[in-house]
Amino acid sequence: MQNFDVVVIGGGPGGYVAAIRAAQLGFSTACIDGYRRKDKYSLGGTCLNVGCIPSKALLQSSENYAELTHSFADHGISCDNPKIDVRKMIARKEDIVGKNSNGISFLFKKNKITELHGWASFAGNKDGKWIISIDDQGKKEEISATHVIVATGSNSRHLPQIATDNVNILDNEGALDLTETPKELCVIGAGVIGLEMGSVWARLGSKVTVLEASDKFLGAADEQVAKELQKNLVKQGLEIKTGVKIGEIKNAKKKVTVNYELGGEKFKLECDKLLVSIGRVPNTNGLNPETVGLKVDERGFIVVDADCRTNLPNVWAIGDVVRGPMLAHKASDEGIIVAERIAGQHPHLDFNTIPWVIYTNPEIAWVGKTEQQLTAEGIKFKKGVASFMANGRALGLGHNVGFVKMLACEETDRILGVHMVGPFVSELISEAVVAMEFMASSEDLARIIHAHPSLSEVTHEAALACDKRQLHG
Ligand code: FAD
Ligand code: NAI
Repeated sequence: MQNFDVVVIGGGPGGYVAAIRAAQLGFSTACIDGYRRKDKYSLGGTCLNVGCIPSKALLQSSENYAELTHSFADHGISCDNPKIDVRKMIARKEDIVGKNSNGISFLFKKNKITELHGWASFAGNKDGKWIISIDDQGKKEEISATHVIVATGSNSRHLPQIATDNVNILDNEGALDLTETPKELCVIGAGVIGLEMGSVWARLGSKVTVLEASDKFLGAADEQVAKELQKNLVKQGLEIKTGVKIGEIKNAKKKVTVNYELGGEKFKLECDKLLVSIGRVPNTNGLNPETVGLKVDERGFIVVDADCRTNLPNVWAIGDVVRGPMLAHKASDEGIIVAERIAGQHPHLDFNTIPWVIYTNPEIAWVGKTEQQLTAEGIKFKKGVASFMANGRALGLGHNVGFVKMLACEETDRILGVHMVGPFVSELISEAVVAMEFMASSEDLARIIHAHPSLSEVTHEAALACDKRQLHG
């Protein structure tokens, strides 16, 4: 039986990054992944195969089409009869996914990591070593490991009243693989996936209706930011209904019918495709946690402490399968931290400085606490808000909606949260993350020179506004 210092189960952004860091630190390392795309094993997990990367590829393609059909005329650029070839757009996305996945195999070879494919499960413990069984489409083998890092990710949550077939009733996988634009798309759940994928298909011509159970739109975001995003999405043609109770759903061959209640009234919506995006559930399917007594909570998450230690010695768990935000960069950071802890180092992950980004148009991004959280916690703060409206770079881009809001401690001026909605805020947020990691004050950011003309000047202005000395507001 082959033995490794570290065996990682799952080759998503948590697992593959953990494997690379473990190998860099000198451990003999194997990574086992069972995901198959188009009948072939494909490393990269949800993120790379059916999540972050393909969704951003489609967001870019659809954004280009929307620019061509709606905004390029303002630049004096016109073209007769613009068309979108959805199959080609999907093929481009597949190509990006394939390249990135092969890139992980390349990195594994470079770092001398043993790449294993199949479904892994705990088979026991012998002489202090964990025995892992691997089922590669019926071909079974066992390996042993001193340390095991579980990074088995998450799966889509489904509605109890309707089965996902990824033909008419879609989860993220189906929504990323449509070969033509649906005439009417209904989205259940106005969360991150619903808004990103709803945007893709709305830009390409679908009539998109989003049905959300909560009374509040995008409750996790700062209220002012969520309001600005909702206003813009509605302008782009998305119909968003909050406070909805979903009833019976019928999947006929050509049409899906969604019954729902809103404000005490009953409604019926007919659509060609229905996307169910109501959250994700941790995945321990087939892992056999019970065989070794690995603790899983009532919601299916593997129970870990702050350092990602499980209840079993030398068994760690990271990413979507444990508590905390289901984000690729959080999974990767936990992977690095665990590998370094195995090596005896003492790294630390600050959950308060994990950035969030939603890649709609405008994009939204935030780090730290919202105004509502600070108020609820009784923390006194000052705020600086600066708009993209008159920013020269934003005007040149033709994308000047939105603002940056900075929240700083009233007493110490330490930055407590930064909330952005506007062009490329997915990139701008990193400055705020660095500032918060280094415990910067709003004055620190106000005293830093920002290039002109640049979108980052709006962050600078928000910092100045915290001290009521904004120059262009
Ligand atoms: P995963 O990426 O889910 O990887 C787990 C891997 O383990 C999978 O390949 C799985 O098949 C494999 N596996 C599971 N069990 C076993 C087993 N027993 N044996 C062998 N292999 C096993 N996050 C962001 O930060 N930014 C984004 O823009 C973003 N966009 C997203 C868009 C969509 C549509 C979706 C669905 C998610 C998105 N996410 C995004 C979330 C992100 O994909 C996840 O947070 C991230 O993939 C979690 O990484 P992970 O390594 O924990 O798990
Ligand atoms: P989500 O948790 O973001 O949103 C789910 C939404 O569905 C919520 O608003 C919830 O109130 C609503 N909902 C739940 N049950 C419902 C019901 N029965 N009827 C109507 N609405 C209902 O989950 P989503 O969008 O599925 O995404 C899962 C996770 O994937 C995200 O939380 C995020 O962590 C990750 N992700 C991250 C992205 C990014 O970072 N840009 C992009 C896409 C996904």
